[in-house]
Amino acid sequence: MKLKKKAIGIISSPRKNGNTAILTNKLLDLLNNNFEIEKIYLKDYDINPCKECYYCIENDECSVNDDMQVIYSKLKEAQVIILSSPIFMGGVNSYMRILMERTWHLRKGQLKGKTGSYVIVGCRDIGSGINEMEGYLSRLKVNKIAGVLGFGFHEGDVLKDEEALKNIQRLSNQIISLNQF
Ligand SMILES: Cc1cc2nc3c(=O)[nH]c(=O)nc-3n(C[C@H](O)[C@H](O)[C@H](O)COP(=O)(O)O)c2cc1C
Repeated sequence: MKLKKKAIGIISSPRKNGNTAILTNKLLDLLNNNFEIEKIYLKDYDINPCKECYYCIENDECSVNDDMQVIYSKLKEAQVIILSSPIFMGGVNSYMRILMERTWHLRKGQLKGKTGSYVIVGCRDIGSGINEMEGYLSRLKVNKIAGVLGFGFHEGDVLKDEEALKNIQRLSNQIISLNQF
């Protein structure tokens, strides 16, 4: 029996039943037949900001011994990486920002060949959210697919965003066709 490759959804919203999680869950459900799925809520992990020690320049790994070490392994294991963030103050939220900064040492092509995309949800002003996600995935050198933008404020609002729901379907199709094996 052939082992399925892994697809992970990393969700940075503090609301586990919030709009970002709803869209990400829909995407992961659509990928479920083709991939082994894992959902990661960053709020469940003890992760700290980059302390700017520059250990990673020489060593290609991070010196901070917290739960990011677990997330590094998950990123390396996965074939498909989905980053999902709500928009807070015009950009990705702080849990997602910490993850981005703490993966600086993975920018040299260690994740090349993997597929990367994103889900972001705001209620009105998404500010630099798309640029941050696009820029980050480019720096990781993964095969990037345009992500999904959803609109919503209260938990569940995004279920009324038909465009976002259609885009989740489109993204799942693209991920599957890019990873046919
Ligand atoms: C601290 C904070 C800042 C926010 N800033 C913005 C913002 O700048 N632009 C926006 O469109 N929505 C903003 N929102 C609204 C959230 O993006 C929105 O409620 C979204 O649905 C949250 O996603 P979630 O349900 O997955 O947590 C903010 C919410 C919070 C709590």
